[in-house]
Amino acid sequence: MASVIYFLHLVTFLPFSIVAQRNNGNGSIAVGASLTATDNIIPWLSPSGDFAFGFQRIPGEDNFVLSIWYDKIPDKTIIWYPQTNPVLSRGSKVELINRRGLVLSDPQGREVWNSSSISDISYGFMNDTGNFVIVGSNSSNIWESFNYPADTMLPTQVIERGGVINSKMSKTNFSRGRFQLQLLQDGNLVLNSRDITTDFAYAPYYTAATDDPSNQSNSGDQVIFDETGYMYVLRRNGQRFDLTSRKAEPPSRDYYHRATLDSDGVLTRYSHAKNPASNTSWEEIWLVPARNMCAQSIGLEGSRACGLNNVCSLDTDRPNCECQRGFSLLDPNDPNGDCKPDFIPSCDEGNGKEVYDFIELADVNWSQDDYMHIRSVYEQDCKNYCAEDCFCAVAIYGGSQCWKKKLPLSNGRRGSSERAKAFLKFRKVDRPSQGPPQFSGENKDNKSLIFVGPALLSTTVFVFIVMSGVICVGFFLIYKYKARNPNIYPTRTAVDTNLPRFTYQELVEATGGFKDELGKGSFGIVYKGVIGINTVAVKKLYRVFQESEKEFQTEVNGVARTHHKNLVQLLGYCKEGDQRLLIYEYMSNGTIASFLFGDIRPCWKQRSNIALGIAKGLSYLHEECSTQVIHCDIKPQNILLDDYYNAKISDFGLAKLLNINQSQTSTGIRGTKGYVAPEWFRNTQITAKVDVYSFGVLLLEIISCRKSLLFESGNEDRAVLTDWVWDCYQEGRLDAFVENDLEALDDYKRLKKFIMVAIWCVQETPSSRPTMRQVIQLLEGIVEVSEPPCPFLSLVPALT
Ligand SMILES: *[C@@H]1O[C@H](CO)[C@@H](O)[C@H](O)[C@H]1NC(C)=O
Ligand SMILES: *[C@@H]1O[C@H](CO)[C@@H](O)[C@H](O)[C@H]1NC(C)=O
Ligand SMILES: *[C@@H]1O[C@H](CO)[C@@H](O)[C@H](O)[C@H]1NC(C)=O
Ligand SMILES: *[C@@H]1O[C@H](CO)[C@@H](O)[C@H](O)[C@H]1NC(C)=O
Ligand SMILES: *[C@@H]1O[C@H](CO)[C@@H](O)[C@H](O)[C@H]1NC(C)=O
Ligand SMILES: *[C@@H]1O[C@H](CO)[C@@H](O)[C@H](O)[C@H]1NC(C)=O
Ligand SMILES: *[C@@H]1O[C@H](CO)[C@@H](O)[C@H](O)[C@H]1NC(C)=O
Ligand SMILES: *[C@@H]1O[C@H](CO)[C@@H](O)[C@H](O)[C@H]1NC(C)=O
Repeated sequence: MASVIYFLHLVTFLPFSIVAQRNNGNGSIAVGASLTATDNIIPWLSPSGDFAFGFQRIPGEDNFVLSIWYDKIPDKTIIWYPQTNPVLSRGSKVELINRRGLVLSDPQGREVWNSSSISDISYGFMNDTGNFVIVGSNSSNIWESFNYPADTMLPTQVIERGGVINSKMSKTNFSRGRFQLQLLQDGNLVLNSRDITTDFAYAPYYTAATDDPSNQSNSGDQVIFDETGYMYVLRRNGQRFDLTSRKAEPPSRDYYHRATLDSDGVLTRYSHAKNPASNTSWEEIWLVPARNMCAQSIGLEGSRACGLNNVCSLDTDRPNCECQRGFSLLDPNDPNGDCKPDFIPSCDEGNGKEVYDFIELADVNWSQDDYMHIRSVYEQDCKNYCAEDCFCAVAIYGGSQCWKKKLPLSNGRRGSSERAKAFLKFRKVDRPSQGPPQFSGENKDNKSLIFVGPALLSTTVFVFIVMSGVICVGFFLIYKYKARNPNIYPTRTAVDTNLPRFTYQELVEATGGFKDELGKGSFGIVYKGVIGINTVAVKKLYRVFQESEKEFQTEVNGVARTHHKNLVQLLGYCKEGDQRLLIYEYMSNGTIASFLFGDIRPCWKQRSNIALGIAKGLSYLHEECSTQVIHCDIKPQNILLDDYYNAKISDFGLAKLLNINQSQTSTGIRGTKGYVAPEWFRNTQITAKVDVYSFGVLLLEIISCRKSLLFESGNEDRAVLTDWVWDCYQEGRLDAFVENDLEALDDYKRLKKFIMVAIWCVQETPSSRPTMRQVIQLLEGIVEVSEPPCPFLSLVPALT
């Protein structure tokens, strides 16, 4: 009912208010005015309407950035944002407060940024120049956005000595990036890169040389971008050092002008026709450094345009970075960042050309990191030298010379002028049938197969000890081998072949060669891809599947027949050789792991809806499918969020696939530390109650926004969430458990109910736990929750 009213409200009032607000206004903002980050905010406009101040939603995210932008052009280019905490979740608020200035707070009301304007404020003003000013009671400006630039400078803006402009991390990431423009204290204007973690500034890759140590009056004093669009460094003696041409073109009457330090490190002057009918976009009219940064012999550490292992194309005037075959981007949203290698040479794995092969990259050289140089050799010998050297990651061959290089590689360049071939070493796949190029870390999969078992076991053992106090490890090891192979997801007979099948090559194309990794799970690596017009998630399963084609198909079709709004839908699959891939719908808002454990606590209502959604999805798997599906690995990384923040369970049905043909000697334990039910360690039947246990842990995480295990010194009693919740619950200290989450505490009845349900779910004894259907009834309040008993009582007796 409430949502219907809300909807009607929007329909009736919105168009009016937008039209009305966007046309009037003298640009002045009264003290006490505020804006809230939602989709339909009406920003504070300048008198002409050219510039707006407010929240802009970041494309593809439910986050907003406090910013100033060009409001009349279609792409609403942002020209200013605060240098700290610019990105905020929905519901954040900015307010103009007397003696405090602009104050930005998150949805929970915590202040995250302010303009620290402590004197009496008369009003705020969004000027037509793009400058937001706060005017004091004596009519002088006490704060101006122009004095705190982000990545952009506008006409009439001035940078004084010591001033800095920072690039963004990437087009959509507003964190401070790697590059900066500085007018140094000595008057020199420079562009330099910096180390992200230490903020250490590297040597400049561009300098205007406007310093003069021998005669201070010749040194630069200000960078000026005048109203005609002309940019220069003004020296102390009044002379100018021209950055752009004095005759500003195109005319500023008809064009917007801006200079932005782009996230690739290039300072660029752009112009854009003001006339909205012109249908044009930003045009580059000047840039610095004018030559491709990569073509300069940089050679200095850190000053590279592209990240480690990345390769810069020399064919354009701006650095254009691209991870080569055999590498993938560390951060998919930062194409100029570091690339991670699919294969890292190791000295433990044998040598020689029987073991290794090479990917050939034409016209590529990394102009550093060579540790050996051999003259007068043939190409084949160059490769052999690298194959036989366990440190060698890449061999460069050109002009009868050979260079051996190690990882990570830096200053990679690509272009016909390079006259070099790079040979990237990788380990041969032991299958003779497939050729090398589709290389995506097959060997890694094998390795992880070998190690996953013991690693999982040992971490689980550790967790178990923490959970239960004192346990005899010897006992555990004996029980490990006795653990019965649980019967999860009984075999089905019908074979349904409706699910679309794709070839491996099609998926290689759909994912651009498995370039864009979305995440790693216990079953495989997930990549982003596009099939037709749909964005999809392609899961490349680890090579642990031994079953026949028919069995695989049966299982996959079984999974495909499950339809529920809280389950991620399987759309297709691929089985070729021993490659197994599953194609799922793409979930734009990622996993609830990043949602819950990010910097800002998501709102309580959203979290309770998510908890209920997960319960519904699980209940469907347990009770409403034609054959029961036990998930076995419920954890935040396996719950995804769609565009509307509906929770969707992923990876269901895969436990059964994994289980096939796994011998009794391998570990029967599935799941992830912190979430596994205690009966995995015992000689008992595994039932759907293992999922109820994991759900209980997950529910606690959703309530408290912290991870189930947290090891930090001084906080031992809070380390294990299931212990901590019981302590808090017994002492009636729910506020301590939610760390003063006021929103949740306001909804105390529901908070308490959720915590009680969670404690019921994590009971030691499986039969004491409710079913998922009961969990839903309890969470929804259809059935009253009774006092939960201590979850740990039965633990020690069960093991002896
Ligand atoms: C802008 O308009 C408001 C009322 O609409 C008025 O109170 C305010 O004084 C005006 N400000 C300026 C700078 O003209
Ligand atoms: C404004 O922010 C600064 C930190 O940037 C903080 O020290 C200060 O207390 C804040 N001032 C007000 C009035 O909130
Ligand atoms: C707005 O910008 C114009 C042009 O630069 C300037 O003359 C005016 O003083 C500015 N207004 C305020 C309130 O700063
Ligand atoms: C106005 O007030 C501010 C802060 O109180 C002060 O710094 C400034 O000098 C004053 N300006 C004038 C013109 O009085
Ligand atoms: C932006 O980049 C920073 C630094 O690399 C990173 O920590 C942060 O997670 C990124 N933000 C987003 C939204 O991707
Ligand atoms: C510094 O340079 C100015 C010209 O820019 C010149 O007039 C002046 O004499 C110089 N001063 C010294 C100490 O050389
Ligand atoms: C605007 O320009 C783009 C390409 O420059 C073109 O595809 C589009 O049809 C144009 N739109 C209009 C309305 O002219
Ligand atoms: C490749 O880079 C190295 C520096 O690591 C350089 O010495 C060599 O000349 C380059 N090779 C070719 C063929 O350009």
